Amino acid sequence: MATTLVTGGCGFIGSHFVRYLLQRYPDDRVVNFDALTYAGNPENLRDVEEHFADRYRFILGDIADSAAVMKALHEERPQLVANLAAESHVDRSIHQPRLFLHTNVLGVSTLLDAARECGVSRLLHVSTDEVYGVAEGEREFREEDALMPRSPYAASKAGGDLLVGAYHETYGTAVMTTRGSNAYGPSQHPEKFLPVIITRLMEGAKTPVYPPGTQVREWTHVEDHVSALDLVLRKGEAGGIYNFGSGERRQNLEMVRAILPLFLRGEDAIEFVDARPGHDARYALDSAKIRKLGWEPRRRLQEALPELVNWYREHESWWRPLKDSRDYQDHAMRHYGNSALKRDLSGEGRSVA
Ligand code: NAD
Ligand code: TYD
Repeated sequence: MATTLVTGGCGFIGSHFVRYLLQRYPDDRVVNFDALTYAGNPENLRDVEEHFADRYRFILGDIADSAAVMKALHEERPQLVANLAAESHVDRSIHQPRLFLHTNVLGVSTLLDAARECGVSRLLHVSTDEVYGVAEGEREFREEDALMPRSPYAASKAGGDLLVGAYHETYGTAVMTTRGSNAYGPSQHPEKFLPVIITRLMEGAKTPVYPPGTQVREWTHVEDHVSALDLVLRKGEAGGIYNFGSGERRQNLEMVRAILPLFLRGEDAIEFVDARPGHDARYALDSAKIRKLGWEPRRRLQEALPELVNWYREHESWWRPLKDSRDYQDHAMRHYGNSALKRDLSGEGRSVA
């Protein structure tokens, strides 16, 4: 029985990854090491705790806490480690950059040291397309392209990527890096774009769009994201970097306009709010390298978007407490400037289009 230690397993992608591993490898154990920040939600793995109780263990801990990480690795002796613990929201990084350095840089360095000391066979570093910065024109980033991060989030992730490269060169650490594009799917925190749109429309409110709304993102379903992580964790070349994205690139307004009819709402449900500082205009990846390894995306926006809307419709009891939490209200009040969303939160009444 092999053991995989996943960090950040209570988050969005992490919880899908933990479930994927337990289902796909019925002889293996999964240990989930998570600090349970605002983004870590034990509800995401309630089913796993019930169905896989004999092969699943949760450990509460911070990846930047060397003693806690060493203790977990000594106890569990995992062959594989996948790091999905992160501060992941660009907007929050604008207000609290130091927090991002703690987890995304110091945390990665702590894991690299601990994995080396405890003889972990393979370590996966989960990074993002955002480290490359803006993909101008028709450009698609390749793995060897320079890193030009433009938000504190992207800079902190790039810091992790550079440490990983240095550890592979210096110590021969068998560590692989993925740079995935924007993920979407069930149980994504309601602070992220697609859940913001859907939950705001469910509330009969307007959906906040950063002007001009023509920014492009490449949307990859979380099921395709976790299959890519698993492939690279097991088959990726040590020290290798792997981009992946679905190829489905859309302007933000296109995404809103694809969702509006599902709520019988029109253009007047769009509210342009204050611009995000340093907003990257376009992301696009060349995914040829991971496709050669055998990955291909299976989910398409056309069928997955209505399914996503239904998931949020059916799981209001999951997202409502997150949106009502003090943490989210503080974030939204601080972040959304003079918008309808801020007016709603401050109790001036809900804006109905
Ligand atoms: P998330 O914010 O939903 O979850 C992060 C998880 O990490 C939470 O469970 C949280 O409790 C945990 N965590 C945070 N700090 C920690 C710490 N110091 N120690 C231990 N646990 C900690 O994030 P996500 O969207 O699932 O992203 C997972 C990874 O994938 C991140 O590395 C992110 O950069 C990367 N990524 C995300 C996307 C996306 O669109 N969501 C796209 C590409 C790459
Ligand atoms: P987001 O989900 O925060 O992911 P990222 O910034 O990592 O790409 O945002 C996706 C896109 O949606 C991005 O271009 C910013 C935009 N956006 C809005 O227009 N309004 C919002 O309220 C949010 C959260 C994002």
